[in-house]
Amino acid sequence: MEKKLEELKKQILKELETAKDSQFLADLKVKYLGRKGELTNILKEVKNLAKEEKPKVGKLANEVKQELTDIFTKTERIIKQTKGTKAFDATMPGTKKKQGSLHPLTQVQYEVEEAFTKLGFSVYDGPQLESDFYNFTSLNIPEDHPARDTQDTFWLENNHLLRTHTSNLQVRMLEKHGVPFRGIFPGRVFRYEATDASHDHTFHQLEGLMVDKDINIGNLIAVMKALLSAVFQTDVDVRLRPGFFPFVEPGFELDIKCLVCEGKGCSVCKQSGWVELMPCGMVHPEVLKFGGIDPNEYSGFAFGLGLTRLVMMKYRIDDIRLLQSGDLRFLKQF
Ligand code: PHE
Repeated sequence: MEKKLEELKKQILKELETAKDSQFLADLKVKYLGRKGELTNILKEVKNLAKEEKPKVGKLANEVKQELTDIFTKTERIIKQTKGTKAFDATMPGTKKKQGSLHPLTQVQYEVEEAFTKLGFSVYDGPQLESDFYNFTSLNIPEDHPARDTQDTFWLENNHLLRTHTSNLQVRMLEKHGVPFRGIFPGRVFRYEATDASHDHTFHQLEGLMVDKDINIGNLIAVMKALLSAVFQTDVDVRLRPGFFPFVEPGFELDIKCLVCEGKGCSVCKQSGWVELMPCGMVHPEVLKFGGIDPNEYSGFAFGLGLTRLVMMKYRIDDIRLLQSGDLRFLKQF
């Protein structure tokens, strides 16, 4: 009987080698290990054996059964894993791995960076945790100036704060790099703000600063236009309004016609049809002085592009909170 078992085992293993699909394997299993299978029949015969033989043969029979069951399971797994790869077919379309994508903010940031780099601007980064001096004082906003109140601020200890705008880098850059200077500084900014469809406590700006001899408003407008056509790849209606910021003189608000509603009025443009996109202006002489630059010799312009707004316009996103939500249903669309 022991011999019979060994032979049966050999035979099963041989047949297993030819197993290519699950059906074949399942049939094979029934044939040998099933209720009326060959191995099962042998096991049934064990009880008819002589008393002294029973334990030895019984043990062996059970071992063989266990071993074969394991091999069946393993083979099944291998067949499943290699399904469809039996033969190489050069005409099959390639399989594409699922890949993540850049956040829409990052995508637009890169586009703007590219447009500015072509105009000779460099890209800089700076601290999000800032001192009162660089965020306010050096921008001609002294302590107790009411302009501080318009930027709801997250104050920290020791006169530090979460920067309320990327303008915190203006004087830092002038101090560090001197003139002539051409740079942009994209980044995250923070406001102590109640959130709704068009406000969030955390959003992104992209500051631009150009200081050189004989820089005027014409240069500012030319650069703004180059930027907008690069980002939107189409003509966008814009308007310039006077705007007040203590660190520019004269100062402007550059608005673009709302692309979400095409000027009809919606939650993004607060029903006005226009969206404030880019406050800008000529750098105030006091700011140049804070940066160690002589305002009689040099002039410049600065702008604070609302990167978050730009993304919302470009992709017609009607709720700013989606951008920070981390919601995959939103992110997978980019
Ligand atoms: N820093 C200003 C803001 O966040 C925008 C601005 C930047 C205005 C540069 C003029 C020049 O509101």
